[in-house]
Amino acid sequence: MGSRSAAASAPGKVILFGEHAVVYGEPSLSLALHRRIRVWGDVPADATTVNREALDEHRFSYIATALRLHWRDGHVRLRTETELPQGGHVGSSAALSTATIGVLFALQRGTPAPAADVARAAFETEYATQGAASPNDTTVATAGGAVLLSPQREAGAEHLWRIEKGERAWNAHRITLPDLPLVVAHSGVRARTADQVAKVKRFVDKNAFGRDLIQEIGAITREGVEALKHRDLVRLGELMNRNHTCLHTLGVDAPALTRLVEAARRVPGTFGAKLTGAGGGGSLIALAERPQAVIEALQRMGAQAFPAEPSPRGLEVSVS
Ligand code: PMV
Repeated sequence: MGSRSAAASAPGKVILFGEHAVVYGEPSLSLALHRRIRVWGDVPADATTVNREALDEHRFSYIATALRLHWRDGHVRLRTETELPQGGHVGSSAALSTATIGVLFALQRGTPAPAADVARAAFETEYATQGAASPNDTTVATAGGAVLLSPQREAGAEHLWRIEKGERAWNAHRITLPDLPLVVAHSGVRARTADQVAKVKRFVDKNAFGRDLIQEIGAITREGVEALKHRDLVRLGELMNRNHTCLHTLGVDAPALTRLVEAARRVPGTFGAKLTGAGGGGSLIALAERPQAVIEALQRMGAQAFPAEPSPRGLEVSVS
């Protein structure tokens, strides 16, 4: 391979409905955020480095896995830059995996790879790093916009790609979202996605009630898709609250998150609030008539809160 440079960026995401249940083949609905992660790569290189230091496989575990699974081309010099809180459950690991794969494939091929190839490889990277995952986050990081993942193909939605793993298959669809006044807030408590996914797995493997909760979340997500078609904010808020209760019962809530979810709900005009992502800490999402009032209330409690404006931009790659 001659001398080559590539750059890629991918967005973070919030999950509106369906986290954890999507790992078990239930649907999920997510949207890409404006905040992004950027990765640059150069070859040839004398050593494999990230941000000018030798690759630290613990700190950059997703990059280490991406290189192990998808790179046979000697040393590569990588640089990263992020606008997303790490451990905030707004998709930072998926955005990093997706942008890294975007860079590696572009360096190998001399041209950006098809989005479906990157989405599959980024999912494999997350799966191998975490030990379990759904393709939700890496699909949103690749496609941008609003994404519905479903075990079957959905009529009336643009089909993006199908991803299979073991006995499961997920169909990714792009859907059009109405304008939604959403707020995201990071509790400041960091929790590893892998630990939360493993915790739910222990519950679901041992307990029929756990499996009922997973199915209940799936039913809520399907109802949420219908409520979105009519922009029924009251119904959407109720469904978000119900989804949060299921996640709380599954054991992935955290005291700091409960306090923030309750505070967001107390602001007059809030339709609903729930944790978003893996939980155990991390972030919440609220649907509110007065998003700025919710942001201020949560900031007063020490949370990092901002409007969740959906972004249509997915993975972007350039090569020179
Ligand atoms: O917390 P995040 O942003 O990594 O999202 C995890 C979403 C889960 O459904 C819990 C896991 C998955 O791979 O879908």
